[in-house]
Amino acid sequence: MPHLDLRLKTVAKQIQANCHVDIGSDHGNLLVSLLKSGRIQMGIAIENKRQPFENSRYALIELAGEARFADGLNGLAAGEADSLSICGVGGGSIDAILREHPERVPPKVVLQPNRDEKLVRRWAIDSGYHLVDEHIVWGHWPYAVMAFQSASGNDPAYYDEDQEAALMFGPINLKRSTPRFIKRLNEERQYLLNLEGLSDASRYRLELLQKVLHRKQDETNH
Ligand SMILES: C[S@@+](CC[C@H](N)C(=O)[O-])C[C@H]1O[C@@H](n2cnc3c(N)ncnc32)[C@H](O)[C@@H]1O
Repeated sequence: MPHLDLRLKTVAKQIQANCHVDIGSDHGNLLVSLLKSGRIQMGIAIENKRQPFENSRYALIELAGEARFADGLNGLAAGEADSLSICGVGGGSIDAILREHPERVPPKVVLQPNRDEKLVRRWAIDSGYHLVDEHIVWGHWPYAVMAFQSASGNDPAYYDEDQEAALMFGPINLKRSTPRFIKRLNEERQYLLNLEGLSDASRYRLELLQKVLHRKQDETNH
């Protein structure tokens, strides 16, 4: 069994499927672990760089998996997989990959953006996917791991949450509000308050942080 760090272990726990596709598979460890643990019956690795593609192909030899040299969903036909993951890349890249061929995105999706997680949550709302679970992995920096399921109607995860704050920090994270999460938000607020000359993006983030933390304070006081 290959070694998975806590980030990929958290991703793996969200996946259970017949056929799963991992875009940006690199070393192939996620698919190998999913196949060997029986969480999936078949795996498709998609890579657009030669060496990671070769690594994935080698890792999947003698397993019920195949590696494809392709750019994102260009390597998958509609209906071929029932579950998909993209991990370890920016939210902008994830968003671009998923929007290129919406009809090829399977009904279950697990995403782990390294940054710009708001773009991933926005993709889901725009594309008819509900957020069914999310976790923060406290690694080198906080990694978001989000599980989505295609569904109709408004996403209940956003019910009773400020939409903009929930897109930025995660509606399930906000509902759970673990001590570590709140501590991290407080630290970021303090950091931004100490900065001189905030960019528009940082000022907006600070506004949302203030809003969330005031609300949490009010809830504690009542
Ligand atoms: C930083 S690695 C992450 C590897 C692994 N998913 C993980 O989380 O440990 C990102 C991988 O995604 C691949 N990648 C990036 N954009 C891609 C795309 N559009 N299609 C296929 N692979 C892509 C890169 O070649 C690279 O191997």
